[in-house]
Amino acid sequence: MDKIIISTLVVTAISGVIAILLTLADKYIADYGEVKITINDEKEYVVEGGDSLLSSLVSQKIFIPSACGGKGSCGYCKVKVMDGAGPVLATEKPWLSPEELGDNVRLSCQVKVKSDMHIQIPEELFNVKEYEMTLVEKIPMTDKIVKLRFELPEGETINFKPGQFMQIKTEAYSGGDDFDGCDEEVFRAYSVASSIKDTKHVEFLIGYTMGICSTYVHKVLNVGDKVLINGPYGDFYYHDDDSEEILLIAAGTGFAPIRSILNHMRDNDIKKKARFYFGARTPEDLFLVDEMKQFEEDLYDFKFMPTLSRTTPEDNWEGDTGRVNNSIDKYVNEDTTYTAYLCGSPKMIEGIVKSLCEKKVPEDRIFYDEF
Ligand code: FES
Repeated sequence: MDKIIISTLVVTAISGVIAILLTLADKYIADYGEVKITINDEKEYVVEGGDSLLSSLVSQKIFIPSACGGKGSCGYCKVKVMDGAGPVLATEKPWLSPEELGDNVRLSCQVKVKSDMHIQIPEELFNVKEYEMTLVEKIPMTDKIVKLRFELPEGETINFKPGQFMQIKTEAYSGGDDFDGCDEEVFRAYSVASSIKDTKHVEFLIGYTMGICSTYVHKVLNVGDKVLINGPYGDFYYHDDDSEEILLIAAGTGFAPIRSILNHMRDNDIKKKARFYFGARTPEDLFLVDEMKQFEEDLYDFKFMPTLSRTTPEDNWEGDTGRVNNSIDKYVNEDTTYTAYLCGSPKMIEGIVKSLCEKKVPEDRIFYDEF
């Protein structure tokens, strides 16, 4: 028995050493020279071979969403690779559906650029830029959520759609009394919470989850600091259509893209009924309530309708209670045509999509952003 265990350990150790040597050899010895990446059959970029496709594209100022910093653990960095990528790796498979696999979709952070490649990316990614922004305001909204306001560099402006997100780059940072440091740089995605009309600033609402970026934002980042932010990204944004009413449904920091949509409705004087069902636990978890009241004054027919799941008699709460699904059951009816925008956890979105479908809201009028 001992012999079997020892043999197994020896084989495992040798395999591990060989894998490390191959990785090091590939990184430091292999010389792939210059290779050409052709994008959408029209644009050509020459890069030094050997890096990941994601990094090679970034070196050409083409930014693909990448919330995990290229570790293969977010599934954001998908691109179509028509040729030159080699076989799909085990690290990619959990993130790719059978349809995507059949459609040549790959995780660009896992694909190495070793020979000429043809890839396809959405045209809008050519508009994604990286900005060195300055934090000009940091205001607590609750004990776990802060509002950040960033200013773009002198002479630069940004265009995005209401509801889209950007990626904030976290530099390595040292720990403090109540948090650990971090020795790596990562990007994390956050929805823009501000108006698309203000092309010189962007605002975010960021919750404290004890993750690398949320710790950086809450514990390290100060007004006056400069931060690299790239974007905009995403296909969750306001659509102009002929529905009679807009449903805005969110919880926690899912408030952010909804706020951007409300700003857009006010700035463009969109005359459409809109209801914002916001799920929170206690009255202390509500924020920007005065601003929502102002939207009720400014917009054509808008109501902010928070629902609380943990109230006590001392709260004297007179609004709705329970989960946000209850609001759908209570207020959404089958005789009205709706377009719905949802932002929250995958579990919450799944439940609300189900409730909306039961109320006959067409699936192609339900837009959602999971986080
Ligand atoms: S960047 Fe996260 S999976 Fe590729």
